Amino acid sequence: MHPNLSFEQAPPISVPYRFFLTAPWFGVAAGLLLAWLGEDAFASRWTPGILAITHLLVAGFMLQAMCGALLQFIPVAAGGNVWKPRLLAACVHPLLILAAALLVTAFLTTESRLFLAASHLFALALGAYVLVVGTALVRTPGQGNTLWALRFAVVGLAVTLILGVLLAQALGGLHSLSLIEVTQVHAAWGLGGWALMLVFGVSYYVVPMFQLTPAYPAWLAKALPPAMLGVLSLWSFQLSGRVDGWQRGVFIAGLATAGVYAVATLYLQAKRRRKVSDPTLVLFRGAMFALLAIFASGLLFVLIPSLGEEAMAPLWIGVLAIPGVFVSVISGMLYKIVPFLNWLHLQQLAGLTQVPPNMRQMIPERAITGQMRLHFGAVAAMLLAVPVPSLSRAAGLLFAASCAWLGWNLVTGVRAYLRFKGRILAADSGHES
Ligand code: HEM
Repeated sequence: MHPNLSFEQAPPISVPYRFFLTAPWFGVAAGLLLAWLGEDAFASRWTPGILAITHLLVAGFMLQAMCGALLQFIPVAAGGNVWKPRLLAACVHPLLILAAALLVTAFLTTESRLFLAASHLFALALGAYVLVVGTALVRTPGQGNTLWALRFAVVGLAVTLILGVLLAQALGGLHSLSLIEVTQVHAAWGLGGWALMLVFGVSYYVVPMFQLTPAYPAWLAKALPPAMLGVLSLWSFQLSGRVDGWQRGVFIAGLATAGVYAVATLYLQAKRRRKVSDPTLVLFRGAMFALLAIFASGLLFVLIPSLGEEAMAPLWIGVLAIPGVFVSVISGMLYKIVPFLNWLHLQQLAGLTQVPPNMRQMIPERAITGQMRLHFGAVAAMLLAVPVPSLSRAAGLLFAASCAWLGWNLVTGVRAYLRFKGRILAADSGHES
């Protein structure tokens, strides 16, 4: 096991699990919405439908999973002390669900009051989360590249939140903004500065630990977060209202930074000590290939401007990034983290007198493999639906089914935890009587 894990500080298991168990159902809602809207959703990146589907995934699925993982990760892997994690989770988790539901309904109805309500709720819930988690990350005596990347990620989340709130307020009629430029910058900070940065930090830690690979080279792990931050800062010059040609170079530099991380991860995975493959590894690798595909597509779109100006170009990148990279990597991580946390908490409960169950007994591997295949099928169908929109209903249904299966697999994992916990407690009371 990893030498720097400090289990004593782990929060109660309900803290991460309430987020993890919610995340997939936002994916189900996104898939069903795509199936319902059909071809109309994929007409352009600015349709109300695609903005709603995007936020069901980024501010629903991804945000839930990532906020839950960070609450677990900071104390255990970065030695940080999160203030009252149970209380924080109990407040932030339902507020984020409500805020995401309001924002999605606002996109679909274009109702100003809903945009304003969503922006207030997000500011409250995510603002509190960023404050508490940010304080823990600043005050921790821990060190290392994971902590380094997590700090950058929380800055990324704060910038995304501020710009998202400003955009929602503008759509709610509170003030006016140059919507396109602010959206470009908000989207880049959300996907690159928050989501990918968190993936950097978490993978520095869990890829060597769970996939038995060599560690990421220290210089690379150190360099990636500030490189991404530098690119995002240059990209943010658009906020001045001027979009110059050099921004295309900045766009490619951002995708190249992500590409370097993907190549390094694939290389380390090829060098892993045990050559067996499992669905988690395949999900992670699929995500890395999707990152490389984004780099290749972005380069093509810049080199052939007529292609890059097609309405389908940003949709193609969006499908590769959100379901292709982030949903894949999060699913893979959840399939490792849930059995591991089950085992960790059961081991503490069992003490020295009983043997906790094996991690493989938590979620059946066949169910994980089946879900993973369905997920990649759904991503392929969504990519096909970009040039052939008549496929979007089928793609939406496939994606909804795969997220529902993920949700069910996680429920199976939690039920296994409860079952084993019941057995341990029963055996303990048997010993005492
Ligand atoms: C937390 C992670 C978030 C991520 C990763 C994210 C990502 C994105 C992306 C990729 C787009 C562009 C969509 C497109 O081009 O089709 C976008 C647009 C937008 N986002 Fe977010 N977002 C996040 C959170 C938020 C929050 C919390 C709010 C509101 C409080 C928000 C409000 C908006 C609005 C209003 C737009 C569209 C603006 C327009 O129509 O011009 N986002 N976001």
